[in-house]
Amino acid sequence: MKRVVILISGGGSNMVALCRSMTGDHPARPVLVISNDPEAGGLAKAREMGIATAAVDHRPFKGDRAGFEAELLKPILAAAPDILCLAGFMRVLTPGFVGRFAGRMLNIHPSLLPKYPGLHTHARAIAAGDAEAGCTVHEVTPVLDDGPILGQARVPVLRGDTEATLAARVLQKEHRLYPAVLRAFAVGDRRLVML
Ligand code: GRF
Repeated sequence: MKRVVILISGGGSNMVALCRSMTGDHPARPVLVISNDPEAGGLAKAREMGIATAAVDHRPFKGDRAGFEAELLKPILAAAPDILCLAGFMRVLTPGFVGRFAGRMLNIHPSLLPKYPGLHTHARAIAAGDAEAGCTVHEVTPVLDDGPILGQARVPVLRGDTEATLAARVLQKEHRLYPAVLRAFAVGDRRLVML
């Protein structure tokens, strides 16, 4: 049974979808949900699902990214993870941290990578007049939003779409894509998942 640690920064809707998927004959189970924000709404949701939680506030470590990560690592390593899932985790991780989990750390990004790495992905797709948008699950490597793509899901950009309406449409797909990719990844299946 693969042990999964999920890192969040906010509401954790992707974390909830992942945790709800890891039941029955699923080859993985969530063992810890950890956040860089002690007030993250997702922590309460994880506790309601009976999943262990932790939080390391990044703010006292202003400018000391390595110091923050050294604290973050403690509960993560104590949970003995096989796989790390970044799910709405909004801190950039150093190559040192990423390197510890090379080949076993995933992230979901709300664009069709390699288009629109970074922030404000939906606003950029709308501004560019794209007909399609979507989300990508990729392996995390030291370069931000750049690792091998494991799955993608596409949605139409509709006339009159705002950042909020497009984000909501993409988020629904995220909640299906991430669990599908994790289930394959947990058994070593690297075939591209396209939804
Ligand atoms: C989502 O848009 C996701 O793509 C991005 O963070 C946002 C919030 O995710 N990674 P969640 O609801 O906290 O899972």
